[in-house]
Amino acid sequence: MYRNIVILTGAGISAESGIKTFRDQNGLWEQHSIEDVATPEGYANDIELVERFYSSRWQQLHSDEVSPNPAHYALAKLEQAFDGNILVITQNVDDLHERAGSRRLLHMHGELNKGRCPKSLQTFILREPFGPDNCCTCCIPAKRLRPHIVWFGEMPFGMDRIHDALDRCDLFIAIGTSGTVYPAAGFVDSANHHGAQTVEVNLLEPDRHSQFQYHFTGKAGDIVPQLVDDILDGKVIGSEPIAL
Ligand code: OAD
Repeated sequence: MYRNIVILTGAGISAESGIKTFRDQNGLWEQHSIEDVATPEGYANDIELVERFYSSRWQQLHSDEVSPNPAHYALAKLEQAFDGNILVITQNVDDLHERAGSRRLLHMHGELNKGRCPKSLQTFILREPFGPDNCCTCCIPAKRLRPHIVWFGEMPFGMDRIHDALDRCDLFIAIGTSGTVYPAAGFVDSANHHGAQTVEVNLLEPDRHSQFQYHFTGKAGDIVPQLVDDILDGKVIGSEPIAL
């Protein structure tokens, strides 16, 4: 039925894996200032503070308490079993989609597991948290790696590929994102504009400004596996209520 599927994921898909979201109660932006830890200016002002913030998130990601949940596994299953095109665009910097098996994946806001040389822009897998000794091997003298994270005021990665996929998609699903940060928040408009069916999965009820045609309210880990099975069964989303 569907031929080209684009899926946008946000922090909500990783919430059931033990990773805090940004804007829910007790979320990351309640405890940290965006200006201090998520802007180029904040980094220039206090490198150690920013490194501590991303290092503690890196350590949590590498701890036993974090692992993919059924929503991540369901999207990997969709990629493997679907015979059309699929692209998962994630705003998340964790690697839970990869660990679950997703490969057609784009990290538009960067990756916690990588550092970047500020001169050559080459990226390096981080084997340990950030610190003055975590340096590039592309420069002499070696440069201190910066987090490979898109900060406010910087351009997200992969925008050409994302726009191509949105132009062609016939189904767009956003999972666990508050839709407050652009350009990701505008993808639904673009998908609607190109005639796609647009579907949202979120813990919260949609507000009256929502641009999505269909909503599933609840936990991603409960809803996404059923949604994926319906797509693989050739069902049209919204034609019958989702059975949980
Ligand atoms: P937010 O924290 O803004 O939103 C998380 C969304 O997930 C909320 O709408 C929740 O209702 C929903 N949610 C929470 N738990 C859920 C669950 N178990 N199942 C389904 N939905 C759930 O996170 P994002 O929208 O991802 O950017 O934030 C976007 C960007 O803002 C992030 O990538 C980050 C941040 O600043 C950068 O750092 C550049």
